[in-house]
Amino acid sequence: MTSMDRSAADARLGTLMARGAGFFGSQVAIMGGAMSWVSERHLVAALSNAGAFGVIACGAMEPPRLAEEIAGTKTLTQKPFGVNLITMHPRLEQLVDVCLEAKVGHIVFAGGIPPGSAIKKAKDGGSKVVCFAPALVLAKRMIRSGADALVIEGSEAGGHIGPVSLNVLAQEILPHVTDVPVFVAGGIGRGEAILSYLEMGAAGVQLGTRFVCATESIAHPAFKQAFIRGNARDAMPTIQLDDAFPVIPVRALQNAGTKRFLEHQAETIRRFRAGELDKDAAQLDIEHFWAGALRRAVIDGDVENGSLMAGQSVGMVTREQSAAEIIAELMEQAAAALMARGRNAA
Ligand SMILES: Cc1cc2nc3c(=O)[nH]c(=O)nc-3n(C[C@H](O)[C@H](O)[C@H](O)COP(=O)(O)O)c2cc1C
Repeated sequence: MTSMDRSAADARLGTLMARGAGFFGSQVAIMGGAMSWVSERHLVAALSNAGAFGVIACGAMEPPRLAEEIAGTKTLTQKPFGVNLITMHPRLEQLVDVCLEAKVGHIVFAGGIPPGSAIKKAKDGGSKVVCFAPALVLAKRMIRSGADALVIEGSEAGGHIGPVSLNVLAQEILPHVTDVPVFVAGGIGRGEAILSYLEMGAAGVQLGTRFVCATESIAHPAFKQAFIRGNARDAMPTIQLDDAFPVIPVRALQNAGTKRFLEHQAETIRRFRAGELDKDAAQLDIEHFWAGALRRAVIDGDVENGSLMAGQSVGMVTREQSAAEIIAELMEQAAAALMARGRNAA
């Protein structure tokens, strides 16, 4: 094997990323994973301006608020960006309408299987649809329902997670899904990993945690500090105390809030057993514990009691850098890995 120079490595990366970048109309096939409260106009525009693909996190926003955020993002970038909608949102169809009116080219449906009517509406309105596929059967089902691309997100990721790692999901899904581009997410912090997933057949990658400390991110300085200090082992999934009271697994940095959540579950279950609460009330009480907690941490900087959603890649976040620097660093690492191969074989 002859060693590659940087321009040959860039050309190879360009080829590996062509399908994903072509799908988004971006320069590189790197998606900014939508993060509630963090992925607003500033970070989204900065990522798109840096050649990646920024995605607004709609989260619990109401339709007029989303319209405002899309318009605000457009004042900061001429480049394409997407919108991530949570399928449980009670006004999902109206949110799709807002995206279509603003001519958002890509809608990402997250948080479950999107209703067929929402997919159809998005596509009929001229938007491309991206869905999350937590297993191969569901990937095939989403494609049949009209998904134009898929994201597979491993349990290494920050925020709400499934049970399977990206390492395994990539092997289970990538070789068998070729009709649509597949983007991989969860635990990606360096360019070498991006290269290896592209070579396994991924069209591109989605990163969240790595972008929280972008200079342009409006996350509170205390939230950013927690990421800079945090190690992979600190980003743990929520613990469920009792099978009878399911807890949605969320990966986050451990803090006083995560400890209190265990105590809150124990106390709520005790009250249920003592007949002080019925089962539904107890379940709701457990679910409500984290209401508003991400906002408290990201915006107010309450890193002790708020939710510090973070992926295992948090250990690779070491300082504040501009979005453009982060993207350039990731691409350099991928290129360096390609160049080293030729040298190592020589
Ligand atoms: C603080 C935070 C908030 C998130 N909020 C959302 C969200 O609102 N919608 C969504 O689909 N994914 C959400 N995610 C997941 C990201 O979009 C992305 O898939 C994930 O961060 C990728 O894994 P990584 O963090 O290891 O890079 C969130 C992640 C973090 C860290």
